[in-house]
Amino acid sequence: MIVTTAQLFKHAYGKYAVGAYNINNAEQAMGLFQGAIESKAPFIIQISKGARKYTDKRMLEAIIRAASVIYPDAIFAVHLDHGDEETCYDCIDSGFFSSVMIDASHDPFEENVAITKRVVDRAHAKGISVEAELGMLGGVEEDIVVEEGNACLTDPDEAKLFVEQTGCDSLACAIGTSHGAFKFKGRQSLHFDVLDKIKERLPEFPLVMHGSSSVPQDEVARINAAGGEIAGSMGVDVNEYLPAAKKGVTKVNIDTDGRLVWTRVHREFFQANPEQFDFRPPGKIFIAEYAKFIASRNVLLGSAGQLDDLRASL
Ligand code: G3H
Ligand code: 13P
Ligand code: ZN
Repeated sequence: MIVTTAQLFKHAYGKYAVGAYNINNAEQAMGLFQGAIESKAPFIIQISKGARKYTDKRMLEAIIRAASVIYPDAIFAVHLDHGDEETCYDCIDSGFFSSVMIDASHDPFEENVAITKRVVDRAHAKGISVEAELGMLGGVEEDIVVEEGNACLTDPDEAKLFVEQTGCDSLACAIGTSHGAFKFKGRQSLHFDVLDKIKERLPEFPLVMHGSSSVPQDEVARINAAGGEIAGSMGVDVNEYLPAAKKGVTKVNIDTDGRLVWTRVHREFFQANPEQFDFRPPGKIFIAEYAKFIASRNVLLGSAGQLDDLRASL
């Protein structure tokens, strides 16, 4: 069942975080739905601009609609990830999205406010909620690369001002995470001090954590042992998801880790079976492995086991 992002946030706020997972194809969707059902967790499906181009936005919509029929117990929202203004309007007008993200975080504060406010006005007129972003994460997202040293944490005072001026419904904050597989050279903790200050100024307001993949070291080692050349890098500490959720982080974005599952499965499969050319056998393994991965993340986010209570509250 597709619900609004606001409904999910209302149930989760301060207790657990909803996992927001990107999909690009049917295999990812199958694994995501299976993992969510197995762990009895609500979730958010994210579609990026890149995903809409990779297949076609209509293909992705059809896959998601079909998955909700195949898995009737699933409760989820559909969200545009890292939208620009034009893509936000397209998704708002589509009638399919529960929420959109307008990402103008690379623009100066006033410009970010102006763009976000325009999107909020259009979205709210149709009952769709808006995630905006303030601050700058490190790493790679779409075609933008931000070096670790140039990432800039969200200023808590600016965050309050930004929310007041834009009327956005949730805020993606930079609190020490980073996009992609090459996040940190060493172990790094979230900036809980900054998170506390943001929560103090924006009580009861859902915060979003992008760049939350953990880049599991065993996954990277297996990929490299099967011919990959993924440079060593650390990700977000998964044991910090839940403490962050208790401080108002209500949505946690995880995409890269799923890609690593895909890479590991396919590299290992074709290395072990060099005569194979059928994509379905590794595809089946990927779906099962991705489902396991999703279920494990939902446990760490605290969303596992919430499905029945959420259903009763709707
Ligand atoms: O933060 C970006 C997400 O991981 C989506 O990645 O733009 O390559 O689809 P993508
Ligand atoms: P990761 O690259 O850490 O998975 O982050 C994904 C993300 O923030 C999607 O918006
Ligand atoms: Zn992101």
